[in-house]
Amino acid sequence: MSLKNINQLLAADMAAVDQVIRSRLHSEVALVSQVGEYIINSGGKRLRPALVILSAQAFGYQGKRHHDLAAVVEFIHTATLLHDDVVDESELRRGRETANAMFGNAASVLVGDFLYSRAFQMMVEANDMRVMITLADATNVIAEGEVLQLLNCNNADVDADNYLGVIHRKTAKLFEAAMRLGAILGKQDTATEEAAARYGMHLGTAFQLVDDVLDYSGDAQEIGKNLGGDLAEGKPTLPLIYAMQHGTPAQAAVIRAAIEQGDIHRFAEVLQIVQQTGALNYTRHQAQREADLAHAQLSIMPDTQYKHSLLKLTELAASRQA
Ligand code: IPE
Ligand code: IPE
Ligand code: MG
Ligand code: MG
Repeated sequence: MSLKNINQLLAADMAAVDQVIRSRLHSEVALVSQVGEYIINSGGKRLRPALVILSAQAFGYQGKRHHDLAAVVEFIHTATLLHDDVVDESELRRGRETANAMFGNAASVLVGDFLYSRAFQMMVEANDMRVMITLADATNVIAEGEVLQLLNCNNADVDADNYLGVIHRKTAKLFEAAMRLGAILGKQDTATEEAAARYGMHLGTAFQLVDDVLDYSGDAQEIGKNLGGDLAEGKPTLPLIYAMQHGTPAQAAVIRAAIEQGDIHRFAEVLQIVQQTGALNYTRHQAQREADLAHAQLSIMPDTQYKHSLLKLTELAASRQA
C-alpha cells in the first residue's frame, strides 16, 4: 500500500468531504467566507478527516455521516490553526501567508470562532451523544494543550513528560477523536473503540514529534511553514530538552538561554547542537516508537484495504519529511 494507493482508495470519500466543507463554510458575512476559504483552499494534508473515513470504512460503516464528521474534524483542526498562528505569530502556513499575516489577528481569531461554532452546529446535527461527547472533549483538551504550552514558553526546566502532556493534548487528542468517531459509526464494542482511539493517540503523538523535528531540520518549501518558529517562541520541545540533557554544560547553557529569550538569532548555533547531540535522531526514534504502538493497536481490526492504509500511515508518520 503506497500513499498513492491510499489517496485512490479514499478519493470518492474525500471529494464528498470536500463538498461538505465547501458548503458549510458559507456565511452571509463576506469576511467569514473569505478568510475561511483562504485557509481551506490553501490545502493541507487533510489527514484527520482521512482518519475518520478510514476508521469508519475499516469498521464496515455503510452510511454517509462519516463525510459530515470528517468535515467537522477538519473545521476544528482549521480553527486551531487560525488561533495557533496568532499565538505563535507565524507568517507562513501551507506554503502561503498565514491568515493573520493576510487579514490580521482579529479576523483570524473571530473566523476561528466561527469554524469552532459551525463544527458544533454540525456535530449536534449528527444527533448522537457519543459523537458529541468525543468532539466536545477533544476540542476542550486541545485548548488546554495550547494553554499548557503557553505556560511552558521560555521555561528551560520543562521535562519530557510535561512536553508529552502538551502534545498529547494539543495534537494527538484530535487524531484520537477522529479514530474513535469511525468506531462509533461502525458500532464497535468498547474494547475495539478504545483500541482505535489508542491508535489515534499514538499516531498523533508520532506526528507532532516529527513536526517538532521538522521545525529544526525540515525544508520550508516542503513543509509550507518557516523553520525556527518553535525557538522564536521559546518552546521547549523534545529536541531541545534532549540536547540540554545530553550536551556539554556549555551547549546546555546555549540552549537554555535561547529558550529563555526565545532567541531566533541563535537558530544556527542551536541547530548545530541539536544535531551534534543526536537530539533530532532521538526525537525521530521516539516518533517511531509511538508509530509502532499505533501499529500494534490494529490487530483487532478486520483485514481490509482500509486497515492496510492505517498501517501504512504509521510508517509515514515517523519518516515523513513534510
Ligand atoms: C499542523 O497539522 C499542526 C500540527 C499538529 C503539527 P498538519 O501538518 O496536519 O497541517 P495541515 O492541515 O496538513 O496543513
Ligand atoms: C499545532 O502546534 C497544534 C495545534 C494547532 C493545536 P504547533 O504550533 O507546533 O504547529 P505548527 O508548527 O504551528 O503547525
Ligand atoms: Mg504553531
Ligand atoms: Mg510546530
